[in-house]
Amino acid sequence: MVLGKLKIDKKMNITNICCIGAGYVGGPTMAVIAQKCPHIKVSVVDLNEDRIAKWNDQNVDNIPVYEPGLGAIVAESRGRNLFFTTEVDRAIDEAQLIFISVNTPTKTYGSGKGMAADLKYIELCARQIARVSKNDKIVVEKSTLPVRTAEAIKNILDNTGNGVQFQILSNPEFLAEGTAVEDLLSPDRVLIGGDTSIEGQNAIKALVDVYANWVPKERILTTNVWSSELSKLTANAFLAQRVSSINSVSELCEKTGANVSEVAKAIGMDSRIGSKFLKASVGFGGSCFQKDILNLVYISKSFGLHEVADYWEQVIIMNDHQKRRFSKNIVTTLYNTIADKKITFLGWAFKKDTNDTRESAAIYVANDLINEQAKIALFDPKVSYKQALSDLNYLETRTSPENEKCLTVLDDPYEACKNAHAIAILTEWDEFKNYDWQKIYDSMLKPAFIFDGRNVLDSPKMKEIGFIYQSIGS
Ligand SMILES: NC(=O)c1ccc[n+]([C@@H]2O[C@H](COP(=O)([O-])OP(=O)(O)OC[C@H]3O[C@@H](n4cnc5c(N)ncnc54)[C@H](O)[C@@H]3O)[C@@H](O)[C@H]2O)c1
Repeated sequence: MVLGKLKIDKKMNITNICCIGAGYVGGPTMAVIAQKCPHIKVSVVDLNEDRIAKWNDQNVDNIPVYEPGLGAIVAESRGRNLFFTTEVDRAIDEAQLIFISVNTPTKTYGSGKGMAADLKYIELCARQIARVSKNDKIVVEKSTLPVRTAEAIKNILDNTGNGVQFQILSNPEFLAEGTAVEDLLSPDRVLIGGDTSIEGQNAIKALVDVYANWVPKERILTTNVWSSELSKLTANAFLAQRVSSINSVSELCEKTGANVSEVAKAIGMDSRIGSKFLKASVGFGGSCFQKDILNLVYISKSFGLHEVADYWEQVIIMNDHQKRRFSKNIVTTLYNTIADKKITFLGWAFKKDTNDTRESAAIYVANDLINEQAKIALFDPKVSYKQALSDLNYLETRTSPENEKCLTVLDDPYEACKNAHAIAILTEWDEFKNYDWQKIYDSMLKPAFIFDGRNVLDSPKMKEIGFIYQSIGS
């Protein structure tokens, strides 16, 4: 039975889209769809009123997600065919196609704690869609989800809905923060997984037609739902694995006199290996890599595939080790005591060109150093005191007042470095390269140390100025 005026058993021309979740994925993705498809009304909804108010701020510099080029795209479409609202029910009701783009963090309780994806937000969305919908809808998993989640969503929709037909598609997002706009405008590929039935294929076609407004057809890949769900987890696992692989070699370089940048260049020129994602660093961060690998590990374990699980878990173990040995090295180099020493952090975001700090290596390094009673002075062009403090508090290592005593955030990098014993570079912001490093050196306590966790500074130049300069893997 088909109720309502939309029928997925026919060709569906999409003119109204809703996206649940106005975060780092939902916001930029929908802004680009709205820009490229002016004939489609796109409503981005969220329960978080503050976040929606920021997306609607007259001044696009204040939108909640910092991404180069995003402000201009939002300004172009907002109020025309792009809307940010907290009216979730209304937007669901009006839409033919609903993206679910809510967060899927690692579970912090119960079975699968610390590993499995917490699907409570996804389930809430499914139940809300089922309750509100009066006509057929295509529901698209944009969030990164464990394999076979689509089945659970379908179950909820089919059993709690009012006879409405739903087609579930998997359309994982591959954008990288910091280059989200570029990635969305010109994706390497768009992946759409759907059911093999006629209705499923029609739903896939409807979503393909949306992307085909700007993405060349040969870059739009269609698969079954399970392949699509698993491909996203696998892609992130492979990317993170490259970082952990080169980081493992960085430690070996430090012991042997090899230089990790030279090794990375030499191996990267082999076309089978390729040069991207081979930069040694203090470790990867971000909301996705760790969570998605843990998820892969959990799924593998739940199928009894312990060797597979152990293989991928090692990527996380290596990453944790890299962060820990970075902070340990700071302590040992500063004569085994950093109590009450001012250590300046340049960078807190998990990578450059984003204000996202989730799982940033900086948080863990700061936590280790505060355990040793260091005083952290932070400068990051896009991260506030409130954010950095809340990141530290989230670890629950100590109380907020205790963290407050150990952290200051300055809005001038030169002030942040004044009278510091050492500088630690935690994010590869381009501007760090162009600072007046002589001026910084002159203002620091001597000997003046730099621990470059992102290998961004010019080593010979730093040493010539007089710094004791240490980078990763050399
Ligand atoms: N951040 C990335 O770079 C990236 C890239 C690819 C995929 N992903 C995946 O995309 C998903 C979203 O990630 P994100 O970084 O955008 O998360 P986010 O935390 O920035 O945004 C999620 C938003 O969903 C909202 N939300 C949660 N439940 C809701 C509900 N029931 N109704 C309305 N709004 C609700 C939250 O308030 C929040 O604003 C995750 O599954 C993530 O793994 C993220």
